[in-house]
Amino acid sequence: MAGKKQRGVHSRVPSPPEGEGQGGGSSRTSRDFTPHPNHFAGPNDSPDRLAGKIPQGGREFLAEAIQKLSAAGIEDASREARLIQRNAPDEESFAAMVARRAAREPMSHILGRREFWSLDFAVTRHCLDPRPDSETVVETVLASLPDRARALRILDLGTGSGCLLLALLSELPNATGVGVDASVEALGIAMGNAHRLGFGTRAQFVQRRWTQGLDGNFDIVVSNPPYIPTDEIDRLAPEVARYEPRLALDGGRDGLDAYRAILPGLKRVLAPDGFAVLEIGADQAEKVCRLAETMGFLNQTVHKDLGGRDRAVKLSQFKKMIGN
Ligand SMILES: C[S@@+](CC[C@H](N)C(=O)[O-])C[C@H]1O[C@@H](n2cnc3c(N)ncnc32)[C@H](O)[C@@H]1O
Repeated sequence: MAGKKQRGVHSRVPSPPEGEGQGGGSSRTSRDFTPHPNHFAGPNDSPDRLAGKIPQGGREFLAEAIQKLSAAGIEDASREARLIQRNAPDEESFAAMVARRAAREPMSHILGRREFWSLDFAVTRHCLDPRPDSETVVETVLASLPDRARALRILDLGTGSGCLLLALLSELPNATGVGVDASVEALGIAMGNAHRLGFGTRAQFVQRRWTQGLDGNFDIVVSNPPYIPTDEIDRLAPEVARYEPRLALDGGRDGLDAYRAILPGLKRVLAPDGFAVLEIGADQAEKVCRLAETMGFLNQTVHKDLGGRDRAVKLSQFKKMIGN
């Protein structure tokens, strides 16, 4: 299992209002879909130390890279250039990585990894880049569990990189889980992450459309479904709009299509005393709660991210009926 960093100093900070890639502008009307700053910069990456790592003409290389990134609209060009430098094995790679970032490719794709819940996840263009805001889902689940030692069964709908499921498995030593995704490429990434992080024997990944064809009795269901209204996607920052999979973003005309698709099958796959935690866009709490109510969930609570925005709804207490 990957070495864990000290809880509290990892990505449990609210996404800053101006993060990586904000220069392109985004409407972000229904959610804060800010491409977040990376979490790979180490504590020792002082400019002098980093500049010392560039072989020849180091300072000029770095200055040129900062200028390129800055011209591409990247706000923290200096920090990002240094981060690339720290990760580039040689000058040629450094130049290639700077060019990719200047084309607004997300830093996580260039580095091939992203930290979530203090765990290091491999990410590619085939899965959503895990967001710090999604840690609200993990926190909400953990806060709802009086006994973390139970042999819980977890279902993660739209698992992407596997970040929600694997973060939960890292906290629940006797739990097992199933990650579902429609994207076979995303499932491959999630599977690789599970093995690399040491959860390969406790996590299973299957290709499904949400709950279709799944057997029930999960104690916990989590999901961060796509929830951006279709016509907002192209107005998001280029890192998101150009490089992240549409399947991971597009929530249909009003952003709620995935909830409409997931909620009817949710009661069937949940154990009678189980609960679900769904990530939502900042302005979707009321609508998602209303939808859940119509599907027979008696208890809905809304949970905020560290930026104070509605970010997750927890659904529990329902009557199981034949056929749903
Ligand atoms: C917003 S991403 C979330 C990824 C990951 N859980 C996270 O929090 O970073 C939504 C995920 O749902 C998947 N997805 C979209 N439509 C789906 C469907 N009909 N059935 C299953 N998965 C779907 C996408 O491929 C994507 O991986």
